[in-house]
Amino acid sequence: MHGRTAEGNKSGMNQSSSSRPVRPRRSVLYLPANNSRALDKLPGLACDSAVIDLEDSVAPGAKAEARENLRRFFADGRAQSLPAGMETVIRINSLSSPWGSEDLLAARGCKPDAILIPKVEAPEDIAAVEDALEQTDAPASLRLWAMIETPRGVMNAGLIARMARTDGARLDCFITGTNDLMKETGVAALPGRPWLAPWLMQIVLAARTYGIDVLDGVFNDFRDEAGLIRECGDGQAMGFDGKTLIHPSQIGPANSAFGISPERLAEARAIAEAFAMPDNQGRGVISLDGKMVERLHLDMAERLIEKAARISARHGGDLTT
Ligand code: COA
Ligand code: MG
Repeated sequence: MHGRTAEGNKSGMNQSSSSRPVRPRRSVLYLPANNSRALDKLPGLACDSAVIDLEDSVAPGAKAEARENLRRFFADGRAQSLPAGMETVIRINSLSSPWGSEDLLAARGCKPDAILIPKVEAPEDIAAVEDALEQTDAPASLRLWAMIETPRGVMNAGLIARMARTDGARLDCFITGTNDLMKETGVAALPGRPWLAPWLMQIVLAARTYGIDVLDGVFNDFRDEAGLIRECGDGQAMGFDGKTLIHPSQIGPANSAFGISPERLAEARAIAEAFAMPDNQGRGVISLDGKMVERLHLDMAERLIEKAARISARHGGDLTT
């Protein structure tokens, strides 16, 4: 590590996340990097982010071909012609695998918005990728996302999330890898995810403590729309920012479930307007329509208004598609 200093705990938990840019991440679609038909479909899709995958959806014998396909996608202009506002993320194989180092170099060369590291289990896993990126003079704007999908990763989620508060940190988002977590623990895949939920909440809490985004795992049965809608509703209520997806048909339900309703937006605007009134500008707490509103609500309201503006700019004013 390059003399990294933790800035995390000076004032305890839940420091403001207002310094991080706001990005809508309601719908985050995986595409196997060796699936050219899927990549060709991407410009017409309404997902907020696309994760182009070199890891689990690509068989060991197809890794080199997938990496080449990825390079071509970013080099021949297709990636640059994606809709403005669609975030691009590349999932690499773990650095401890035979493919990880080459994947990281290829991903860095593609200039995506972020690189997703699988099976993150400790802060050192983030540090190792950050150090490798430093050696290639990667731009500061390149973000890192981390999959939390093993028992050790869940146990260490807080320590890992704290990496977002170190000097020059790139960590920006957690994804819960629910399939791997179920496989490694033997927990049953039941509707409503009763036994998985405590671990998911632990991951949400870790992300919130250090102000990064956190995304729910995938819903495998992509023909079951009612099941997906239920699980998106659960994920939204659990505090996730959005859902990871495997099929284009899942984008609409996720955008709708994690979208911003006109009522929530109106409430946020009312809070921002109230604090902007001359009498209220120096005040920490005010009363609005009979309810107490504090500056922390103003912070939340401002981020929601900005997120709504970004969604609206991309989707012509519609906040749920
Ligand atoms: N992204 C973009 N397009 C996709 C897509 C995806 N994730 N999944 C399917 N499509 C496209 C297909 O290419 C097909 O387009 P085409 O008619 O032009 O060929 C269309 O959507 C309909 O696909 P469908 O026939 O319903 O599904 P499929 O049998 O081709 O694929 C999966 C099913 C699950 C194999 C495929 O959706 C997939 O690979 N998903 C991603 C898996 C993944 O990345 N997992 C890793 C993280 S868990
Ligand atoms: Mg996985």
